[in-house]
Amino acid sequence: MPTRAWSPDSWRAMPIRQVPDYPDQARLRAMEEKVGRFPPLVFAGEADRLKAHLAKAGDGSAFVLQGGDCAESFAEFHANTIRDTYRVLLQMAVVLTFGASLPVVKLGRMAGQFAKPRSSDTETVGETTLPSYRGDIINGPDFTAEARIPDPGRMEFAYLQSAATLNLLRAFSTGGYADLHEVHRWNLDFAKRSPLAGRYEDLAVRIDETLRFMGACGMSDLPQVRETEFYTSHESLLLPFEEAMTRQPSTHPGRHYACSAHFLWIGDRTRQPDGAHVEFMRGVANPIGMKVGPTMEPDELVKLTEILNPANEKGRLTLISRMGAEKVEAKLPPLLRAVKKAGRNVVWICDPMHGNGVKAGAYKTRSFDAILAEVKGFFDGHAAEGTIPGGVHVEMTGQNVTECLGGAHKLVEADLARNYATFCDPRLNAEQSLELAFLIAEELKARRPASVVPAQAAQ
Ligand code: PEP
Ligand code: CO
Repeated sequence: MPTRAWSPDSWRAMPIRQVPDYPDQARLRAMEEKVGRFPPLVFAGEADRLKAHLAKAGDGSAFVLQGGDCAESFAEFHANTIRDTYRVLLQMAVVLTFGASLPVVKLGRMAGQFAKPRSSDTETVGETTLPSYRGDIINGPDFTAEARIPDPGRMEFAYLQSAATLNLLRAFSTGGYADLHEVHRWNLDFAKRSPLAGRYEDLAVRIDETLRFMGACGMSDLPQVRETEFYTSHESLLLPFEEAMTRQPSTHPGRHYACSAHFLWIGDRTRQPDGAHVEFMRGVANPIGMKVGPTMEPDELVKLTEILNPANEKGRLTLISRMGAEKVEAKLPPLLRAVKKAGRNVVWICDPMHGNGVKAGAYKTRSFDAILAEVKGFFDGHAAEGTIPGGVHVEMTGQNVTECLGGAHKLVEADLARNYATFCDPRLNAEQSLELAFLIAEELKARRPASVVPAQAAQ
């Protein structure tokens, strides 16, 4: 099958969905040129390394933890917010690593998760209808006509916020914050009062003992203990920005990398095989993801895996299943079967958030029980089909928000108003995230074949 030529701008000839209607095209072009001159945020070698880790997850010898905000925002840009989300991800990773004896690939929905697909182009409040908010890289969340005008100037601040966020994440990862000797300190103050605190503390004590033993054996200074690898990801939605951030590194001749993050994914609303988003993503050399929702058909999915990963490279393509708790049992197995039968190498991970949205009065929410039920359904589907559950993808925050129902504190609808802070979808708070990690670790442990020997890997 001859492949059509690809270039960073070949997507422009294809039908596109979810695209902002920029009123000033000249300003848009000027901004694209400006962003095109900004330094890349990531190095191609890092993206290649992530791809190798993801290949292990595809084989069952690592587990992916992808998480962060639904939408990052300019207003919430603060070191504490970044730190708190990062440390909950570290806690979740340590629970999974220790509980399941598997290395965890840490992938933040951070440092660039700014563009949002919307179910409706407009939003109506009372008598007023305005264009929908599409994420801070495009327009503003305030319900005013002015805020909702797509403004190319926003790309510049999104780039700067991403660069500063990534800088802090890199500093935390290698500068001592992520040192396993700090495992007690990652417990957030409010999480200490939670029913899960004791459980986490028990685990931290056991890690401490292990580290003391390793220290006595002369192994306490291993980089795997002192540092961690942390990667960034976001939805590849705003293609003018992504194209401008695409580079051909001199170290990787002949290859293009999307340099706005290590990993980009295609959303469930923009995954048409002949659409612009698939076209852009098929040509970048990064590891990439694609959301797989309940309307995906098996043949279509196999076709998409061929378009997006023609060389059938391991680690290149992660399929992020988001069926909803009620549909996962019926919808996922036929897809697992078709991909397996076609011999396509993929990493399957579970997003138990986006198929489980419900309305509670004025709030969009999700119930912890439904989230957990989808994760279980995902594991069951893989067990039945003999395929590998490679990870999870969650919307979460380190803040003590009240956006999802249930969990150890049994949040109910009346609690939602207390601290509902998301700019888009409801997120798990720190405690709910930790609880989910414990439950997933149990699933992994229970379902692991006795013969699997944990791979040697970094924390
Ligand atoms: C998201 O991940 O925020 C999102 C919009 O997901 P999906 O494309 O699966 O609906
Ligand atoms: Co979301």
